[in-house]
Amino acid sequence: MQANGPLLHASEVTLVYQGKRGDITALEDLSLEVQDGEFVSVLGPSGCGKSTFLKIAAGLVPPSKGRVELAGKVIEKPSPEVGVVFQKANLLPWKTVLENVLVAARSLGLDMAAARKTADEYLALVGLETFAANYPNELSGGMQQRVGLVRGLVHDPSVLLMDEPFAALDAMTREQMTLELQKLWMTTEKSVLFITHSIPEAVFLSDRIVVLSERPGSVVMDLPVTLPRPRSFETLSEKAFNDICNRLRAHFSSFMAGG
Ligand SMILES: Nc1ncnc2c1ncn2[C@@H]1O[C@H](COP(=O)(O)OP(=O)(O)OP(=O)(O)O)[C@@H](O)[C@H]1O
Ligand SMILES: [Mg+2]
Repeated sequence: MQANGPLLHASEVTLVYQGKRGDITALEDLSLEVQDGEFVSVLGPSGCGKSTFLKIAAGLVPPSKGRVELAGKVIEKPSPEVGVVFQKANLLPWKTVLENVLVAARSLGLDMAAARKTADEYLALVGLETFAANYPNELSGGMQQRVGLVRGLVHDPSVLLMDEPFAALDAMTREQMTLELQKLWMTTEKSVLFITHSIPEAVFLSDRIVVLSERPGSVVMDLPVTLPRPRSFETLSEKAFNDICNRLRAHFSSFMAGG
């Protein structure tokens, strides 16, 4: 998708939840940009509004104030241009891998032959080409999450929104998935907005890291990561990599100490 300016552009987004015991301001004047093809991670304390922001950007929740634009157009409802991957794959147990992957394409009314072709291609990219006819209970957690990833990509969105997609995985699978996501991103040249609680994961994957304040969330740091690509397990032991991690750790520890 061609865009003049950033592909995804959030301007002064505020979201107030009306709860039974009063209003909760989850986000306040949050502004951020993701350029075409860029990988941006969002780090921030628990409850600062990260998932809330993702739901707004996905067109699932309207902001109380401000707006999120995709290629200059305000996002008001779920769109084929936006793919979403959540923390849990939440696959439909009665549908096969392939049917699960095609659910979003079907509900968006897309060309199913084209979606099917993309599905085959992406399932192969994540090593699941022989599992298309299997059911979710026949897959491991990591394999299910890969299916969730393909489901988010199959309608060929220009931006992929990911909310802690690897949080439920064991540490080894998580490292493997991080490498696979980098490969998928480098192959497809999509823009990614990636929410995580893991500093090393954010540094490993990102072109840029946006750090949010405590609730109500707004941007307190915007850090470029210029490490060369492709990054590999060796990257994890490089000084430049660890310097960035330590800078982020220092930010969060001073903040947790109340500084
Ligand atoms: N549907 C809702 N109704 C009322 N309050 C909500 C709702 N969803 C979230 N909140 C509140 O909004 C705030 C932000 O929640 P959100 O889930 O966006 O945080 P988060 O940054 O994703 O947290 P975590 O890192 O733990 O996933 C929290 O205080 C939460 O209690
Ligand atoms: Mg969350």
